[in-house]
Amino acid sequence: MKNYGMPYKGSKNQIAETIISVLPEAEYFVDLFGGGGAMSHCAALSGKYKKVIYNEIEPLVYKGFVMALKGEFSGEKRWISREDFFRLKDTDPYVAMCFSFGNDLKTYAYSKENERLKEHLHKIFFAETPEKSYIHWKNFLNDYKKLSHECSKKFKILQSLDSLRRLQELEGLKRLKNIDSVNITCFNLSYEQVEIPENSVVYCDIPYRNTNSYISDFDYEKFYEWALNQKNQVFVSEYSMPETFCEIADFEKRCKFSDRKNIKIIEKIFVNRVGL
Ligand SMILES: C[S@@+](CC[C@H](N)C(=O)[O-])C[C@H]1O[C@@H](n2cnc3c(N)ncnc32)[C@H](O)[C@@H]1O
Repeated sequence: MKNYGMPYKGSKNQIAETIISVLPEAEYFVDLFGGGGAMSHCAALSGKYKKVIYNEIEPLVYKGFVMALKGEFSGEKRWISREDFFRLKDTDPYVAMCFSFGNDLKTYAYSKENERLKEHLHKIFFAETPEKSYIHWKNFLNDYKKLSHECSKKFKILQSLDSLRRLQELEGLKRLKNIDSVNITCFNLSYEQVEIPENSVVYCDIPYRNTNSYISDFDYEKFYEWALNQKNQVFVSEYSMPETFCEIADFEKRCKFSDRKNIKIIEKIFVNRVGL
């Protein structure tokens, strides 16, 4: 399966293709609650839209997406210690996204006991040695095997590397501008401030109601009213919505983190109006 967007808690990566497949074609795909950008990324590659608008209110997340598109993570190889993490996590997207637990941007990824082992692996991985092609990988794999007995199997051995790879992959999207004439415009605004062009499919992956994952003071009533007043069709991902919205699809997805890990959840897509 292709990975879409940046590593991000609540990413739609797993079900991005399925969601895009049920949305109509249009000139613009407008991703108003863009987060890690999985939906913008998938929409851009889908061939259904000529232009993609990505928006995200959190400055650090927005900055990370823009940097990833520009390829600014390509030379990145810093090891981030627990101390570095708490010093830099609010200003440096690489630190926050690659070294936070479950990409929550808040908690350090590695336990105190494992931190030194992870640092060792990280440094072997990025070691600049002439024998990189063979010895580098042999050492890395030997250490990896040894450590895998000591580290919890539940987590990837080096989550930070996996996350960095995903940030680096996003650079490829920028090249689409030339290849497929898809272009991506990014905004760091609240959803209602984004100017929505005609002939747009508007997609809103709002923070789920009754969870405290993102911004606790999200005004749901204001959002419902805004969505119902839009001329364009507005598609919303949620578990439930007021009756004034129409449910058009549902998907099963597995919760990946915390105490709800692996619990099946049904996520739905609602629309503000069925036809135009
Ligand atoms: C469920 S997440 C989106 C995840 C995204 N679809 C992905 O695949 O990574 C919701 C996002 O909405 C953002 N957000 C919250 N309030 C917002 C607002 N008023 N305007 C725009 N974005 C907002 C949050 O910061 C969060 O990143």
